[in-house]
Amino acid sequence: MANDTSVVLDAHSPNSPGSLADPFTPPADSSLWREDFLLGVATAAYQIEGAVHEDGRLSSIWDTFSATPGKVLAGDTGAVACDHYHRWEADIDMLAGLGFQGYRLSIAWPRVMDAAGVPNRKGLDFYKRLLTRLKEKGITTFVTLYHWDLPQHLEDRGGWLNRDTAYRFADYADLMSRELAGTVDAWATLNEPWCSAYLGYGNGHHAPGLANERFATQALHHLLLGHGLAVPALRANDPASQKGIVANVGRGTANSNSAADQRAAQLFEVQHNAWILDPLFKGEYPQALFELWPGAEPLVLDGDMRTISAPLDFLGINYYFRTNVASDGAHGFTDVPLEGVERTQMGWEVYPDGLRDLLTGFKENYANLPPIYITENGMASNDQVTDGKVDDTQRISYLKRHLAAVDQAIKAGVNIRGYFVWSLMDNFEWAFGYERRFGIVHIDYTTQQRTLKRSAELLAKFLKERKAQAS
Ligand code: FCB
Repeated sequence: MANDTSVVLDAHSPNSPGSLADPFTPPADSSLWREDFLLGVATAAYQIEGAVHEDGRLSSIWDTFSATPGKVLAGDTGAVACDHYHRWEADIDMLAGLGFQGYRLSIAWPRVMDAAGVPNRKGLDFYKRLLTRLKEKGITTFVTLYHWDLPQHLEDRGGWLNRDTAYRFADYADLMSRELAGTVDAWATLNEPWCSAYLGYGNGHHAPGLANERFATQALHHLLLGHGLAVPALRANDPASQKGIVANVGRGTANSNSAADQRAAQLFEVQHNAWILDPLFKGEYPQALFELWPGAEPLVLDGDMRTISAPLDFLGINYYFRTNVASDGAHGFTDVPLEGVERTQMGWEVYPDGLRDLLTGFKENYANLPPIYITENGMASNDQVTDGKVDDTQRISYLKRHLAAVDQAIKAGVNIRGYFVWSLMDNFEWAFGYERRFGIVHIDYTTQQRTLKRSAELLAKFLKERKAQAS
């Protein structure tokens, strides 16, 4: 990457808290040294499991979407992925061996219930074995119920545009929390409802591939309703666990000081953040959203907003990059990519301050914000294995700088309890298939060989030092 030079310089800089040889060692006063600050890695079912036709698993919208020509780069699908469905034991040994305290995974809804809602024992047993083993290893488990793989039979009846899907989701949450109670430390209902709604129904970049803003707002409402209906079931069946939701958040900055550009940046954050967080934590949709999308108000029934805004035990935040925007001359914003900034293989700008600024802003803006976990943060790079090693210098620097931003937010008073790297291993990166590598472990998709990248080794080294200091 053009920016690799600046990354190396950064790691050697006298001002940088660590050296290249020891890049994860945070300053002595960093909260990252606290053993009760949970450090983990994250994955999602469709991105790693494969085995899409095994043991009674039904099709999901991502099976359908990825099989549709032109939807996913190189025609990749999740049919095999990292073959984690068969290799889960070794994968858990690997993550436990690295010393991570936490693992965030998701359950594939189409694996565990049939179209009539009848439990699929074989699918359930897979997750029982997996979670039991994680508990035996002393790993804190964060389980996401919905990481985008809606059963296709529900999409055939309208998917998230159909209010009934919210009730089907609550049934699924009820079943899972009855079956898996005691093995899950934290339940997240949804992963990134913004992506499910906007990319899935608003611009069509993700499954099911519909493109209409009115669809996006209605789908989002039903997703959040499903979340709100699921929480009481999770509380009733598995009282000891934490219950929350995971939201992706985006930093929008203005291209100039003009009032129009400043407003554009605000609207960007309304569309990316407040659209999701206001209903959850204020019980209402932000009115400014409908300046952007006139006439796109969803149909909301009496009591929905109360259901959606019931108190939570945690909020998961996923953060990747910032977007620089200007006014589009009408009621909206338009992206103005900055020149000369560091970017990742995704083209996403590396901007750790955005994470800190968003977190401190949310603390100001939402009075009843629960404790926060950073449930995803990480970057893609075109990593290659050379002589059995993978030197992912840019990722090491990226993680170090974002962890420092988290520490700054904690020092500014934000209640952040943990951080999960996206991702444990390279995997099926949705519309970008296998080309984009987010893992701290490299996957050779021909042999399924796992190779620790240098970032994994250095994180493991830090975790070991931290543990030694605590004991
Ligand atoms: C997030 C998704 C996750 C992964 C990362 C890169 O939006 O939750 O599955 O694809 O992006």
